[in-house]
Amino acid sequence: MTAVMELAGRLAGSHDLSQEELAGLIRLRSRESAEFLKEQAAAQCRRYYHGKVFLRGLIEISSICRNDCLYCGIRKSNQAADRYRLDKEQILLCCRRGHALGYRTFVLQGGEDPWFNDDRMTDIVSAIRREFPDCAITLSLGERSRESYQRLFDAGADRYLLRHETASESHYHYLHPASMSFQNRMECLRHLRETGYQTGCGFMVGSPGQTAEHLARDLRFIKQFEPHMVGIGPFLSHKDTPFASQPGGSVELTLYLLSIIRLLLPRVLLPATTALGTASADGREEGLRCGANVVMPNLSPPDVREKYNLYDNKLCTGAEAAESLAVLKKRIGEAGFLVSMERGDSLIQTTAGNNMN
Ligand code: 5AD
Repeated sequence: MTAVMELAGRLAGSHDLSQEELAGLIRLRSRESAEFLKEQAAAQCRRYYHGKVFLRGLIEISSICRNDCLYCGIRKSNQAADRYRLDKEQILLCCRRGHALGYRTFVLQGGEDPWFNDDRMTDIVSAIRREFPDCAITLSLGERSRESYQRLFDAGADRYLLRHETASESHYHYLHPASMSFQNRMECLRHLRETGYQTGCGFMVGSPGQTAEHLARDLRFIKQFEPHMVGIGPFLSHKDTPFASQPGGSVELTLYLLSIIRLLLPRVLLPATTALGTASADGREEGLRCGANVVMPNLSPPDVREKYNLYDNKLCTGAEAAESLAVLKKRIGEAGFLVSMERGDSLIQTTAGNNMN
């Protein structure tokens, strides 16, 4: 048996692979190991989720950001970016539209826009909580203080997505300006978890400077942090960023890592991301076949969708749009899965329960 198949077999058998072994599994990836891990991951996913794929309505509330991440199209110093911000009423309208379509999770995502301070944000979250007591509210608003996370949780938010971006401090500094801190990002994740959120972390695949060792460290971090959700997608360049000329991340490697993450954390909620769907026409469906079980269609007002440009050619129409539910259900159904419009809470217990109305 080849070395990579031996490592893949051990992972599938629930053995705890070391960082060096995970790096080997990544570096030695073969068609055979990818096929094997895909089947094993799909089986684990079926065992816990019975073929269900959860849909979340994604509302991109602001393309204004105080950060200057080198890879991101809405970074502060991109003068060419078209900026917008939704107000409370616009956000509520998106939720109403989504609720009528059947969505029971709303994901409010945005750049780190100072306008959404704690008073404004808690007001918005409380209003959604009041009007939609049966829905989960997920926030993805970047780094905030522990107090801020607590206030938003108390106002009714259930889940929070904050990608760690990379678990290697030196690589973190390669991707971010000196003003951003790796320690702070990791601390935010701990605060989120301690506050009682279902917490999600994640990273880009194939970001500039990334090696198999970096990815192996990301996987070790994920295994040890045991988040409720993990978001990964290929890096895709944006023309108005310092990484404009860098090649995009590999779809095959992203799929391979989805399978590995499913096997490391069998119960995790794992989206087939927009970036994966953008990088390859059937990327999202293939992601589901490799162990992903969440899709997040776009519920933002149609006129702002193309302004939330984290990378070039980001999908925001077709099956990507939350309105195209029939198309989406058909495509996911044809891939062998069943679309679920339930809240789809994490199977991993949270210490502090919240909003289980
Ligand atoms: N390519 C792929 N993903 C990106 N993100 C930001 N910029 C890019 C890009 N150029 C991801 C980051 C961020 C999430 C919202 O989108 O991981 O956390």
